[in-house]
Amino acid sequence: MSPSPVSAVYGLPPPELAPAPAGAVQVSPLIPGSAALEDIAPASLESVTVAAPPGTIERRYVLALALRALAPGGRLTALAPKEKGGSRLGKELKAFGCEVHETGQRHQRICQTRRPDAPAGLEAAIEAGRPRFSESLGLWTQPGVFSWDRPDPGSVLLIQALPPLAGRGADLGCGLGILSHAVLASPQVIELALVDLDRRAVDCARRNVQDPRAGFHWRDARTGPELAGLDFVVMNPPFHDAGAEDKALGQAFIRRAHAVLRKGGVLWLVANRHLPYEGVLGDLFGKAALKAEGGGFKVYEARK
Ligand SMILES: C[S@@+](CC[C@H](N)C(=O)[O-])C[C@H]1O[C@@H](n2cnc3c(N)ncnc32)[C@H](O)[C@@H]1O
Repeated sequence: MSPSPVSAVYGLPPPELAPAPAGAVQVSPLIPGSAALEDIAPASLESVTVAAPPGTIERRYVLALALRALAPGGRLTALAPKEKGGSRLGKELKAFGCEVHETGQRHQRICQTRRPDAPAGLEAAIEAGRPRFSESLGLWTQPGVFSWDRPDPGSVLLIQALPPLAGRGADLGCGLGILSHAVLASPQVIELALVDLDRRAVDCARRNVQDPRAGFHWRDARTGPELAGLDFVVMNPPFHDAGAEDKALGQAFIRRAHAVLRKGGVLWLVANRHLPYEGVLGDLFGKAALKAEGGGFKVYEARK
């Protein structure tokens, strides 16, 4: 059994602004293989360093979990870019009963505090950020996961355009599993790999797609899991990395889809109209057919 951790780090805080102690256990759901902050024993840690996420409910959930995991007097350092929640961090920590020392550096707000003896409101913040079943979506979801509280119009357009698929396939960047759910409506699908970088998404997808043909993978889809000779890939690829637009990410997903498909296998893809995917689709697949367009999105079918 590995020894219990004494400190934890959530995400990748810039080391020059908030260095995490050596040996701190990583607890970000966006780093495959990490521990879960939810599973850390209450009042057990000496310090937690949090690169705080931008969504308010998600951020308060993470801060509350971090305070719960800290021993009384344990140190919490939380930071975020000013315009991505940083300007609210201090207030949020004070509402939990913390005394906060706040500084600013390189557009980041950095808050340092110690866990009070009796923090206020932790359970309510944890409750608000937990996975839950959404009646309106008809899905398990959690604040912070992509499109957690409304269906993504791009994904809806792709589902409307999808023909019944057959054979073995993958949903790269599966999110809550909405595309997979539609794909598995076809009885001719034999096997489907759902892959996402976000543990919370994979956990929700596991609940949303209860089908023996589905396999779930908490992985970076650019590098894993091992897949080959697939008949089809479906995806609504991400184009943000750490909050910033990153076109290369979607292009890397297209390369990975091409690599895992068999010759003659098909990629179904939806993307925002402004994203430059035609070039890489053309280079790899020859021609991609535009199958649907609307609401700022385009759906392509590309055959290898
Ligand atoms: C645009 S969303 C689509 C989600 C889902 N397929 C849908 O249609 O609602 C992209 C998904 O890719 C995931 N993602 C981002 N980077 C990833 C990576 N490198 N590997 C795997 N998944 C990634 C995100 O967590 C997100 O769930």
